[in-house]
Amino acid sequence: MSTNTVDDKRKVTTARLIEMKRRGEKIACLTAYDYSMAKLIDQAGMDLILVGDSASNVMAGNMTTLPITLDQMIYHAKSVVKGVNRALVVCDMPFGTYQGNSKEALSNAIRIMKESHAEAVKLEGGAEIRESIERILCAGIPVMGHLGLTPQSINKFGTYAVRAKEEAEAEKLVADAHLLEELGCFAMVIEKVPATLAARVAKEVSIPIIGIGAGNGCDGQILVMHDMLGINQGFSPKFLRRYADLDNIINGAVSQYIDDVKNVDFPNEKEQY
Ligand code: KIV
Repeated sequence: MSTNTVDDKRKVTTARLIEMKRRGEKIACLTAYDYSMAKLIDQAGMDLILVGDSASNVMAGNMTTLPITLDQMIYHAKSVVKGVNRALVVCDMPFGTYQGNSKEALSNAIRIMKESHAEAVKLEGGAEIRESIERILCAGIPVMGHLGLTPQSINKFGTYAVRAKEEAEAEKLVADAHLLEELGCFAMVIEKVPATLAARVAKEVSIPIIGIGAGNGCDGQILVMHDMLGINQGFSPKFLRRYADLDNIINGAVSQYIDDVKNVDFPNEKEQY
């Protein structure tokens, strides 16, 4: 009998992800932002679908994740949830909705859960946002952490380069990972850090570490859907593997359609009433 969750049609829960880590089964995660793509990704057997604030980049064309609003994230999450039967759906809390005041963080997290029906929220940061994480968890809302390269802090970092190469930053990341576990987060993303560091964290904590650009010692992997499908050709970091070349496929199909319309080849007799 296969132990792979892809063959298991039961709904993925936070508890089940922790159990997968315990059993040594890797966790497959991907972003999605709309109903149709979420449905395809879920049917393929994805364990976790993240409604990432990368929607700001790939859906809205912004340079950073900072401009996307809570209303826009709720809109995307609501569409994704409608297409998903099996995967756990996690929604990013956008920049400015949880860093300032933990009471506001809680009411914003409640809005996400009530209005989108996502099953968990993700927040970027460690000790600095402890109060917000605690308050959200107290309300029974599952929280996923996010450490390493945290794109909402791009103006502080000044670059999307690999994080935590120096000992002091690496030790802070390890301490933050332990803190997130102690607070009760069910998992965390670790983005763009040395593989040895991410593997160390995955060994030291009992909750799943989902890596992006963090090597294969993590408990699972996540990519941005547009990047791995080759829709977004302008972004080619070392860690990215492209599984399709949709840019060319879509371009070819659309060019053919334009030609067919111009040449009165479409619609033909069978394609009309
Ligand atoms: O917003 C996002 O897509 C993310 C992933 C890169 C983890 O946070």
